[in-house]
Amino acid sequence: MISEFQHPDLQVCVLAAGRGKRMRSNKPKVLHKVLGRAMIDYILHTVESLRPGGIAVVTGHASDMVQAHVGQPQNLEWVIQEQQLGTGHAVRQCEEVISDVRDVLIVCGDTPLLRSETLAKLVSEHRDRDAVVTILTAEPDDPSGYGRVVRDAEKQVSWIVEEQDATDTQRLIREVSSGIYCVRYDVLFDLLHKLGNRNAQEEYYLPDIVPLALKDGRSVRAVCMPDAAEMMGVNDRAQLSMAEDILQAYIIHDWQRRGVTIEKPETVRIEATVSIGPDTVIQAGCYLMGSTHIGDACRVGPYAVLVDAWIDDQVEIFAFSHIHDANVAMGTKIGPFARLRPGTQLDEDVHVGNFVEIKNSIVNRGSKVNHLSYIGDTEMGVDCNIGAGTITCNYDGANKHKTMIGDRVFIGSDTKLIAPVEVQSDATVGAGSIITKKVESGGLTISERTNQRYVPHWQRPRKQSR
Ligand code: UD1
Ligand code: CA
Repeated sequence: MISEFQHPDLQVCVLAAGRGKRMRSNKPKVLHKVLGRAMIDYILHTVESLRPGGIAVVTGHASDMVQAHVGQPQNLEWVIQEQQLGTGHAVRQCEEVISDVRDVLIVCGDTPLLRSETLAKLVSEHRDRDAVVTILTAEPDDPSGYGRVVRDAEKQVSWIVEEQDATDTQRLIREVSSGIYCVRYDVLFDLLHKLGNRNAQEEYYLPDIVPLALKDGRSVRAVCMPDAAEMMGVNDRAQLSMAEDILQAYIIHDWQRRGVTIEKPETVRIEATVSIGPDTVIQAGCYLMGSTHIGDACRVGPYAVLVDAWIDDQVEIFAFSHIHDANVAMGTKIGPFARLRPGTQLDEDVHVGNFVEIKNSIVNRGSKVNHLSYIGDTEMGVDCNIGAGTITCNYDGANKHKTMIGDRVFIGSDTKLIAPVEVQSDATVGAGSIITKKVESGGLTISERTNQRYVPHWQRPRKQSR
């Protein structure tokens, strides 16, 4: 049996050739990101979940960039539209790659909020009503910018008028076209070949297949979607941030339903690619980005920034910490004001305190770096205590060098470890040391200190009175 979510007799055509002039960008529009994921990735994910017979993606402007981003999924064909002469012209370029199927579903690359359920409904209504052309429409509060759906006296769709071509009265129409169409394959290209470009933009408009189909006596239907926000097209950066806001509200609700507490949700950014475990608390102002994963029962924030971070269960991240491409094991405490840079791995029950930066280092179970330190290119064993102001001097101006620290090492405050250098297990290093050679296991290692003098009967300078 073929389920609602399998459509072998459907081909999808994704229109993504436009430059997106209104974005004013060197990057093609569909590569702009909405909450951390490119718009083209949203629409491809949505159409892929319909399991269609094939997907044709029309690219033109910077097609190499779009193709490099997407790669080559199995059932995807790239179609190049050399000149962007309109949406109808774009679909026409797919004639060679679209095989003989029942219907063609045409979607735009710039509608990232669209859900696959909505598309499945469009296809099933199109088929149930035995229509030749079915348009997905909506009634947003503000229809400006969209093609308006003009209906005749019997309320039947008669054509779609683009904003640039519309009269003042037509612009008052609330119902708009989402730009998404389901069309019978056996008539689609015939209709497309009849398109003209006598309109304000001198483009071959896809919506003009509607009056052409009606002229041939074909049935044209419209399916109006209940949630207009979902079909929102992103044409400029203002709409990009509106789309982010709408999607952010969905994502936050979704995590709340799954047991995540989110304080001051309106101040938090959680990208679409992030995952969070139940009983975790996300405090105000946090940015959770990229492939970040946070486990169960953690506390994050306020104002923490996590990018591509992997955080295990029961981790506490205090205010204003910044974690990028680092791995943090269970029960660890970080911050406030800590920075973990790429390649950092913290094992269980590690403490990283305020104003500590750690880069490309492994810190093993139970070790503590609690105050004002820089640890770079270091391997540290278990249960070490690294005193305030310890610096691994890992860079000689040309090359980076490693610092190896064994288990249960105690490093006194304000120590400089000049790499490459090794501190063996159970060593103690006295405060203020400058370590340039191997520190032997056990005992105390301390570098020469300057003499301390006592000057009795010394007077502090006094402020001179004028
Ligand atoms: C389009 C529709 C409009 C609809 C709106 C919904 C047309 C003429 N207008 O307007 O009815 O209300 O979408 O969001 O269809 N593209 C190409 N090749 C081209 C031109 C465009 O591939 O030659 C692609 C674009 O990359 C984009 C999509 O088609 O992904 C839509 O083009 P866009 O310029 O954004 O059309 P709108 O003005 O938004
Ligand atoms: Ca658009």
